[in-house]
Amino acid sequence: MISIKTSEDIKGMRVACKLAAEVLDYITPFIKPGVTTGEVDRICHEYMVNVQGTIPAPLNYCPPGYTPYPKATCTSVNDVVCHGIPGDKVLKNGDIVNLDITVIKDGYFGDTSRMFFVGEPSILAKRLVETTYDCMWLGIAQVKPGAHLGDIGHAIQVHAEKAGYSIVREFCGHGIGKNFHEDPQVLHYGRPGTLEELKPGMIFTIEPMLNAGRREIREMGDGWTIKTKDRSLSAQWEHTVLVTETGFEVLTVSAGMPAPPAFITQPITTTPLTA
Ligand code: MF3
Ligand code: CO
Ligand code: CO
Repeated sequence: MISIKTSEDIKGMRVACKLAAEVLDYITPFIKPGVTTGEVDRICHEYMVNVQGTIPAPLNYCPPGYTPYPKATCTSVNDVVCHGIPGDKVLKNGDIVNLDITVIKDGYFGDTSRMFFVGEPSILAKRLVETTYDCMWLGIAQVKPGAHLGDIGHAIQVHAEKAGYSIVREFCGHGIGKNFHEDPQVLHYGRPGTLEELKPGMIFTIEPMLNAGRREIREMGDGWTIKTKDRSLSAQWEHTVLVTETGFEVLTVSAGMPAPPAFITQPITTTPLTA
């Protein structure tokens, strides 16, 4: 069952989601060759707790069958698909890294991730990251009352496969609100017109993971880190979105967020970014 959020819930989600995006704005200048993923995590963690008054949702998060997640953020570098645990890894020129931030504010969860280039990316890495970004936005552009979850997955799948990339199937977007992960599952592949119909007040994430090579993954011995089986590069972007009466509102917005692609012609938020 997909919950319909109350106007009070939506207000709380706007706040939490914007704060999550603002952590990404804050950390951006620190992501340079020579920094460790553990340093990046520590800086984000301190900003959340000491400046924002938010709680990092990943810390000690423990879904069934998992061990408690040990850090405040996920840092997924190069062939890491998702859930990379920050540590001693030093970022070097040419790396690509996804930083996934989920904060809790007044009981509401905001979840967003971006890709970062460390120094100068290869042409291949740049194309993968940009294609994944467009996939996320093509998915978001499907969101409106009467559309179906399968429309989102289909739009993402068509664009990814046209570019020669594969889509990870084991992880998906998710409903979110007073819980980190709620119904529905938002698959990043699918058929138009299938699965649940979207209704105003639903809130979920869209967070496609694209691999430069094959879609198969493997889990590392730490119980969390997911890598591509063929060691090809992987990229991911994530926004939390609200279904409105006429379309979508992106909730994980901030002053420093990358601009939407040119094919997004409607306003992406109802509230000014500076409010
Ligand atoms: N933020 C991730 C998501 O988008 C979930 C991370 S779970 C963690 O759903 F425990 F690894 F942090
Ligand atoms: Co998510
Ligand atoms: Co996330």
